[in-house]
Amino acid sequence: MIILKSKFETKKIISAFKNQQHSIGFIPTMGALHKGHISLINKAKSECSIVIASIFVNPTQFNNLNDLKNYPRTFEADCIMLEKAGCNVIFAPEIAEMYSEKELELKNLKIEDKAWTEGKLVDFGTLEIVMEGAHRPGHFNGVAQIVSKLFRIIEPDKTYFGQKDFQQLAIIRSMVEQLSMPIEIIDCPILREPNGLAMSSRNERLTTEQRKTAALISKTLFQVKNFYTSKSIAELKKFAEQQLNAEPQFKLEYFEIADVNTLKPASEYKANQKLIACVALQLGEIRLIDNILL
Ligand code: PAF
Repeated sequence: MIILKSKFETKKIISAFKNQQHSIGFIPTMGALHKGHISLINKAKSECSIVIASIFVNPTQFNNLNDLKNYPRTFEADCIMLEKAGCNVIFAPEIAEMYSEKELELKNLKIEDKAWTEGKLVDFGTLEIVMEGAHRPGHFNGVAQIVSKLFRIIEPDKTYFGQKDFQQLAIIRSMVEQLSMPIEIIDCPILREPNGLAMSSRNERLTTEQRKTAALISKTLFQVKNFYTSKSIAELKKFAEQQLNAEPQFKLEYFEIADVNTLKPASEYKANQKLIACVALQLGEIRLIDNILL
């Protein structure tokens, strides 16, 4: 496995792979890898001859400096996991490799001014103003910014994303379509802990007790799925909100039932419409998200 920090080196090596007719599968990550990431690597290995993962904690997608500071960083352990999984290349750039000073300054200004419309790559419409977009201003602009940079460096044939970040997946699909990038996006199912908790790098920061409490999130989602169509959407939302709000350690940000394509909140069942239930909440210092296709 090769570990690279320079985008030029990475481009050079990838172009050599492409000259040898290899297909490139790419998994962008922010490190702190878990089994969910490894399932993406395994899927990529089964479909592509070269698998590349990036490890980069992207500052421009954090709208909370504490969250950025405390984001788990486990580079050595990540490299061991990736090597074991058969990853061929890790691209792990420093911040200066990916962003100019000016870009970072602009970002800070934008956080304070909330002037997110400036300098946007593409227009995501409602996709970026609902749910995560509403609660994390600028987050998806930062995600699109870094993922588009990574795609330009790596130019993968296929890229692999987990469904846990369902809204992120929708944003990346929209970006790839609007920028006409010839990249196939493969979405992969959420992996869960034995108690149902969706696997996430942020789980590393939960105490054993908090992990137990956090199981109520997926339990609620599974119950909502069970009640689906036997209760109205308003009733489903009320049930979930009441159950999650009843847990004193949770600070619920949103529970939403939305159209899977537009992510617009749904208020009634419509024929042929696919819906998803999404939730975000704070447990102590940790922000957790989860979802379930209904
Ligand atoms: O899902 C993540 O880990 C990040 O948002 C991503 C896609 C690697 C961009 O920084």
